[in-house]
Amino acid sequence: MYQKESYDLYLSKLREAMTVDEAAGEARKKGARDQAADEYAKASVLYAQAANSLLDVCDGCNEGERKDFEKSVERLTAIARQVRACAEELRRQPSQQDIQAEEEDQVLFRPAEAQNVTFDDIAGLDEAKQMILDEIIHPSMYRELYDRFKMDNSGGLLLFGPPGGGKTMIARAVAAEANLPFFSARCSDIVGKYFGEAEKHVRALFEAARKAKNAVIFLDEAEALACRRGGHSTVMNRLVPELLSQMDGFEKFDGRIIVIFATNRPYDIDPAFLRHGRLPSHCYVPLPDENVRTAFLKKMIAQRPCSDDVDIGKIVQATNRFSCADLVNLVRKSCQYPINRSIERKAKGEQTVEEFLCQQDIEQALSRLHPSVEPEEIERLEKWMKKMGMQLPQMAA
Ligand SMILES: Nc1ncnc2c1ncn2[C@@H]1O[C@H](COP(=O)(O)OP(=O)(O)O)[C@@H](O)[C@H]1O
Ligand SMILES: [Mg+2]
Repeated sequence: MYQKESYDLYLSKLREAMTVDEAAGEARKKGARDQAADEYAKASVLYAQAANSLLDVCDGCNEGERKDFEKSVERLTAIARQVRACAEELRRQPSQQDIQAEEEDQVLFRPAEAQNVTFDDIAGLDEAKQMILDEIIHPSMYRELYDRFKMDNSGGLLLFGPPGGGKTMIARAVAAEANLPFFSARCSDIVGKYFGEAEKHVRALFEAARKAKNAVIFLDEAEALACRRGGHSTVMNRLVPELLSQMDGFEKFDGRIIVIFATNRPYDIDPAFLRHGRLPSHCYVPLPDENVRTAFLKKMIAQRPCSDDVDIGKIVQATNRFSCADLVNLVRKSCQYPINRSIERKAKGEQTVEEFLCQQDIEQALSRLHPSVEPEEIERLEKWMKKMGMQLPQMAA
């Protein structure tokens, strides 16, 4: 005779297992992934316990009964294994919440409106433009030509130079010239408030670009994101490998994705990024020299009502070490004077109130402005370029 206690235990475990198994199925249908996985895991344990109790029963029964029971034990053990596999499979799948969060993140990184800046709008920087055309834009547009000449055209572009030199403008112009959507992000967009968000955002940014198939990904303030590892920041120690692996992922990608990093502090970037295949093209965007300042100021002045006495040559001489952003600021501050004069005339009730920008306005504004970039910053950049074996630009003051 078999042992009644074990048999009762077997029956109760089996019933419990079947109830939990059914609940797991219901949870799965509703898309409650975590709950379903937990229930399946619980059911698996119960089926195994039922099988064990049945084994105890076998000990005290005759030959014929034992054979039947042993078959049942085998069946129950197989079911326990299957149900456990179900739980593991579910745990590997992303939950509905994960999918939703990922979709939301991708929405975070939508391409910017079509870029309305072209290379023609960028004053000077001819060498940089040519290099970017040869190494970045044309390989992406005429892949087959480059392949024919066995030119390796993988990897992106590092734009570096003092602030206000035009790096962001160049990146936008690359997107316009190559006719690609522009996905741009800066450090604050990527590094979230919560643990683990930064890597998720990097993945979402690259995923959004991959979905577009052809795109420019622009990472501004790259030194903050792609900084040297080994510091105390655990976020960065996790983020940098994620960024590297996303960039390596393009090798097998058949779309056209151009990755551009911009930084004022290239010496803070993890050298792993500068290696071949990742960011092999390095482009220095220096402070504007005399020629660039002349072209830039001429264009800015021409767009505004100006008196004939404006002496571009004199302004160019007085703006040594000014960045393009400083020049934009100079023109803005200068224009405030004729605007104020016009307002005064209006207030007096005069008929003609039109005033023009004149040399004195510009000189007055100049006397209150200083170049925003310190010479030490340029020295540090040039020292890094020398260390990297790059050529320093030939500048006309
Ligand atoms: N070479 C250039 N030609 C025309 N405008 C420029 C040039 N370089 C910069 N600018 C203008 O100067 C400002 C700063 O440029 P930006 O691209 O933001 O500099 P960076 O990204 O290097 O800090 C912008 O208004 C930009 O339009
Ligand atoms: Mg910028």
